[in-house]
Formats: sequence, C-alpha cells, structure tokens
Amino acid sequence: MTGNWQAVGDMNGVATALERGKALIAGASSLTELRAVEAEAFGKRSGLSAITATLRDLEPDERRLLGQSLQQARAELEQLYDRRRAVLAAEEAARQAGSERLDLSEAAGLFTTGHGPLAERMSAPIARGHAHLVSQVRDELEDIFVSMGFEVAEGPEVEDDWHNFEALNMPPHHPARGMFDTFYLKAGEPESVLLRTHTSPVQVRLMESQPPPIYAVVPGRCYRRDTPDARHLPVFHQVEALVVDEGISMGDLAGVLETFTGAFFGPGRHARLRPSFFPFTEPSAEFDVTCWVCGGTGCRTCSGSGWVELGGCGMVDPAVFHAVGIDAERYTGFAWGFGIDRLAAARTGLADLRDLVDNDIRFLSQF
Ligand code: DAH
Repeated sequence: MTGNWQAVGDMNGVATALERGKALIAGASSLTELRAVEAEAFGKRSGLSAITATLRDLEPDERRLLGQSLQQARAELEQLYDRRRAVLAAEEAARQAGSERLDLSEAAGLFTTGHGPLAERMSAPIARGHAHLVSQVRDELEDIFVSMGFEVAEGPEVEDDWHNFEALNMPPHHPARGMFDTFYLKAGEPESVLLRTHTSPVQVRLMESQPPPIYAVVPGRCYRRDTPDARHLPVFHQVEALVVDEGISMGDLAGVLETFTGAFFGPGRHARLRPSFFPFTEPSAEFDVTCWVCGGTGCRTCSGSGWVELGGCGMVDPAVFHAVGIDAERYTGFAWGFGIDRLAAARTGLADLRDLVDNDIRFLSQF
C-alpha cells in the first residue's frame, strides 16, 4: 500500500516537473538561455531526474507505471526543446542578416557629405551608360549586312604569319608586307606570331573551314605599329566582307557596295571604285563614298572632290583560292575591308581619332 501511495505522489510530481520544464523552455528568449535551462527542464537537475532516482525503491508494477510516465514527460519536453531551439535559431539568423545588411542609400549619403572627386560623382545621380560610338557603328554595319543575307564571323586577334600574310598572297619578303607595320609576339619562331594587322586573315580562316558559298562580314580589332595621331590609332577596327560563290562578278561587288552606302549614309549617297593594288585581290580597287560633309558638292573634308576614300576591295585573287584549296575555275568571289573608327569619326564630324580612345565620358556621352 505504501508503495502505491508513493507512486501516486510521484505521478503528481511528474506532472509538476513537466509543467516546470515547459515553462523553462518557453521562457528562454535566446539560444544561450535555452541551453542554460536544459539541465533543469529535463536533464540532470530536473524534477524528472529526481523522481527517476526513486524508481529503484518501488514495486515492479509501480516502477513500470511511473517509468512510463517519466519517459513520456521527458520525450514531450525534448520535443518542445527542439522546436524552441529551431525558432530561436531562425530568429537569431534573421537578426544577424538584418544587422549585416549594407544600405547603399546610407553609403551614398556618406559620400555626398564628403569631399573630392568621388563625393562629387556620388552626389550626382548615377548615369546609365551606353555602347561606345565605335560599337554602335559596328552594330549598325552588322545589321545592314545581316539584312542583306551575310553572316557575321569573327577570328583571333593573335594570328600566325600564314593567315595574316602568306595565304593572302604575301610570301616572306613580299614588298606589300611593308604596308603593315606589324607587332610581333615573342612566341614560336621569330616573326611567326603577331597581332593581326587587318581583318583579312579571317577570310582565309573562313575559306579553310567551310566550302563555298560564303557570304560573311567580319568586324574586329586590328593592330599596327603606328604612332597615334588625328588619323591613326595603333589599335583600330575594321570590317571585312567576303563573298565566294559560282558566277560572282565585279558587278556584284559594285552593287553590294552601292546598296550598303545608301543604307548606311542615306539616300543620295553613292559609292565609286578606283583602280588600286592589293596582293589578295585581282583586280583591286579602292572605294570612295559621297562626301558626308558636303554631300558631293566639294568641301575641305573631300578636298573639293565630293568623294571620300573608305576602303579597299577587289576580286579574290586565284592565288588565295589555291592557298585554301578552293577550285578557282569553279568559284569566284569578292572582298573588301575598311576602317570602322574612321567611319564613326566621319559620320559624327570628329576631327581627331584619338578622342575615341581617351575615354572622356563628357565626350563619349554625346553619341
Ligand atoms: N586588308 C586591307 C587593309 O587592311 C583592306 C582590304 C583591301 C581588304 C582589299 C580586302 C580587300 O578584303 O579586298 O588595308
């Protein structure tokens, strides 16, 4: 009987210990506090542990009964503890993220109250940039030729002698190499690796990699050892065109150039060809377009002629076809190349090409 009474008393003790444990867990307001109450809530220092210590003095039945309710109470408290820990951990993570956030409007405020060029910049609204004038013109050229059925191709800026010169009918020591003041790289045999001096090597790459028909334009950066001046930059841009197909004639070349000139410069602007020489074309020509300043009546820009020189062109030389293994009896083609920077300068009335690369935002933002 005594044992029973004790067991009943301990049942009440379990309920009390459970309530106490719940209150301790719920009252913890941080992970540290929670850890600190664990022992008292259901660990070594808890009411549950004290009652557990009395189990061995009980009769087996009572022991089982009390043992079960102790186990239930402990399981419930452990579950509560885990849930509370998850909630507190989430709260603390959120608090930390909040305190570490970088408020850029506050940072801008800091700068604007400071001095110096950065502060000056920050106090103005941050302007949205746009494509560089040369990129705009290149994009426009691409659009025009794509609308005429050409594809846009690219090639490497670091070239080998074969693609930049030899396959273009300029064997070693050919005098035409003198037109190109070349930057050579310290790689491989001396003077075998270079920065391409024109976009024409991509013609060779295109013909090596695919059979005709080819209708391609190639915009890209080129390099020559020129001292920068109003009309020269050592790093400049060209756009190359290459057409290879059966039955292509000089008339096609003239027609495409005339169509392009009208599309780019506007109605009433024309192209004309003048005989010239390039090793990779035969016959070769230079092509002029109606002066963009005076519209053809004659002015200082065009030296009174009404025409401005734009680039070189011609019919692909059979020697170039031989170099890339295209049957020159079956196929003919034309090619041209001209400078994009000069074109961009011309269209915007720019007197000095160096302005394009000084990166003065006040200048560039006009276009
Ligand atoms: N590659 C020549 C240069 O940079 C320009 C040129 C002339 C390209 C005639 C051509 C061409 O494709 O047919 O001066």
